[in-house]
Amino acid sequence: MKVIRTIEELRSELRERTRSGHEPVGLVPTMGYLHEGHASLMRKAREMTQTVVLSIFVNPIQFGPGEDYETYPRDEARDLELARAEGVDIVFIPTVEVMYPQPIKTKVSVADITSLLCGASRPGHFDGVTTVVSKLFHIVKPDYAFFGMKDAQQVAVIEQMVRDLSMDITIVPCPIVREADGLALSSRNVYLKPEERRQALVLSRSLQKAREAIASGQAETAGQIRQLLRDTISEAPLADIDYVEAAVFPELDPLQDEDKISDAEGRVLLALAVRFGRTRLIDNTLI
Ligand code: PAJ
Repeated sequence: MKVIRTIEELRSELRERTRSGHEPVGLVPTMGYLHEGHASLMRKAREMTQTVVLSIFVNPIQFGPGEDYETYPRDEARDLELARAEGVDIVFIPTVEVMYPQPIKTKVSVADITSLLCGASRPGHFDGVTTVVSKLFHIVKPDYAFFGMKDAQQVAVIEQMVRDLSMDITIVPCPIVREADGLALSSRNVYLKPEERRQALVLSRSLQKAREAIASGQAETAGQIRQLLRDTISEAPLADIDYVEAAVFPELDPLQDEDKISDAEGRVLLALAVRFGRTRLIDNTLI
């Protein structure tokens, strides 16, 4: 496994590998502090491609003022160990100076679907994501790029960008990986105090309850489901709801209260963002 820190070196290594037939190329973009969710993307990339590139970069321009850029967890040595164990070929770990040598004046911005859900409470966040992901796409030129459905809106936004800009890249969405008790894995879970960690189970539990209510016919409309999700989450005293939404995936159009879930079956995204203390967690499920 090669650890590469500059764009020039990465380009020349990739030229070498593609010249010697190590294609297709797969890219797994991350911000590090890797866990089993990230590992599942690397495994999928390993299965589908001959050159697996993992990028680790805590991207300052996707964090808003007052967010956790400075305190975002980092552990390069551990990340490299995990990447090696997953058979990654190249780890790209640029510094901020490598990625943004001057203040950038160009950004890639997807309209409309970035201003709802997480975009509503994190203005500018998705511009930071699409800008850094397009930079990574230009640098690595992957055939396939792997993203987790944990960030379902991010998948929708990246797919939109790829279509709109005719990028010759296939986006591979990968399922959410959870702890045994249901909590979706996230680098930010380390922020949770023990009591917050216990109560955070209400996210996956509320989604599970919603699935069951729909399957049994107890709840039919988007309004009923949003209410059920809100009521369940509110049982956790430390939970502070940012949003609870039922929307069509990947268009992200919110369903009206009276809309029947069954009318868009297979494409209904139930998505939540909830704060526990200073930690904002997200979770979702597709119905
Ligand atoms: P990060 O939060 O590190 O996540 C990197 C990738 O891992 C994303 O595609 C994310 O959806 C996926 N992932 C995280 N937790 C997961 C889980 N529990 N199950 C499955 N996949 C999971 O997302 C980002 O970084 C950044 O926005 C990035 C795309 C790297 C751009 O900076």
